[in-house]
Amino acid sequence: MANSKKLKLGAIIHGVGGNVSAWRHPEVPVDASVNFEFYRKQAQTAEAGKFDLVFIADGLYINEKSIPHFLNRFEPITILSALAAVTSKIGLVGTLSTSYSEPFTVSRQFGSLDHISGGRAGWNVVTSPLEGSAKNYGKPEHPTHDERYKIAEEFLQVSRGLWDSWEDDAFVRDKASGVFFDPSKMHRLDHTGEYFSVQGPLNIARSKQGHPVIFQAGSSESGRKLAASSADAVFTGHENIEEAKAFYKDVKDRAVALGRSRDDIVILPGVGPIIGSTEEEAERKYLEYANLVTIDKALEYLGRFFDHHDFSQYPLDEQFPELGELGKNSFRSGTDKIKQLAREHNLTLREVAIRTATPRSEFIGTPEKVANLLQRWHEEEAADGFILYAPTPDALRDFVESVVPLLQERGIYRTEYESDTLRGNLGLPVPENRYSAAAKVN
Ligand SMILES: Cc1cc2nc3c(=O)[nH]c(=O)nc-3n(C[C@H](O)[C@H](O)[C@H](O)COP(=O)(O)O)c2cc1C
Repeated sequence: MANSKKLKLGAIIHGVGGNVSAWRHPEVPVDASVNFEFYRKQAQTAEAGKFDLVFIADGLYINEKSIPHFLNRFEPITILSALAAVTSKIGLVGTLSTSYSEPFTVSRQFGSLDHISGGRAGWNVVTSPLEGSAKNYGKPEHPTHDERYKIAEEFLQVSRGLWDSWEDDAFVRDKASGVFFDPSKMHRLDHTGEYFSVQGPLNIARSKQGHPVIFQAGSSESGRKLAASSADAVFTGHENIEEAKAFYKDVKDRAVALGRSRDDIVILPGVGPIIGSTEEEAERKYLEYANLVTIDKALEYLGRFFDHHDFSQYPLDEQFPELGELGKNSFRSGTDKIKQLAREHNLTLREVAIRTATPRSEFIGTPEKVANLLQRWHEEEAADGFILYAPTPDALRDFVESVVPLLQERGIYRTEYESDTLRGNLGLPVPENRYSAAAKVN
């Protein structure tokens, strides 16, 4: 069945984080991860391309083996608030961990970003894979994978409740009568659960979007369950179209089984496009960037997924080592995939490290080739759209200048924003305030 909706696009802005050694690429400013001008230009380039959103990833633990971008980067809510002031239509999505935060604070932060941006905020709900995070938050240990997802579920339930604290017309603000708000339209949540106890109400009103758009970015069984029940959008990663189609169908089927519509959840795989006027030029650009990565750096990068495991202890050109349960409690779906790939293709450690550190995306080639692939993934229901992981700043510009016009000519991508909210552009419903809805029924 062809996807009848227009294709959606997002762009990750990741400073010097295109790959482990991207900071050495001639196009990348060495301080890009903490350079506001860099972020401003990237966001404005994406907005010129009518992208739905920019996306800021995040993490809560570093050590000397972390990649340069992770060592020194902006906190997502802070940079997105600044970007709100220099953009007007594009959505602003940031990662924030449910494993090391409090729902009252996070709901306030995203509620505020949603107001500051006029309804363009999105929250990438993550469960923090890195075990070391516990050491930065005074916790005795990193919660297990399953428990992190249980916490995330309750966290989201609380946040949604807090965002409904005020009905849409609660603030009367009538100077003549002196009535600032209608107390019957202000609601306490009074939540007491397994992990959180929150009275409410939240000290910020609902925005135009009702609730900020909820993104989810984990692909394990627990991740898919959370996505199906609670996410508006899913950020995912796939090796090929077949795998992407299976994931797409699975998550949409799960959502429908929970009483939601297939269109209530937007699935956006990450892709890393590199565009050239010829295949050879695109390939050259890929190599220019991939060849920056030494095998030592690639091993360190691979290690991070496995709780900073030291891969330098194994022979490089022998079969990928047996790792047992390592990785299960951190990037579970990611590490499962790496192990599976190594097994299925009988890869050596060197091959796995290089593939992980410099993934060779299918989306490398001429504008026509890349547009054809995106169209195929979209039409065959492998994706509702894509989050671009442009390895260097010029790759995003090239995409906007050469691929976007092709998608527009084909009528599968917008020529103008449909809405000024992220929800509106993604075609997602505005959640009704639970108390207003209940009042209508009674
Ligand atoms: C595409 C993608 C993007 C992610 N982005 C982040 C991120 O920015 N920060 C973070 O702490 N975790 C991120 N995660 C990790 C997840 O939140 C999750 O903790 C991890 O993937 C383990 O869950 P899973 O086994 O369900 O995938 C991301 C995961 C995926 C698949």
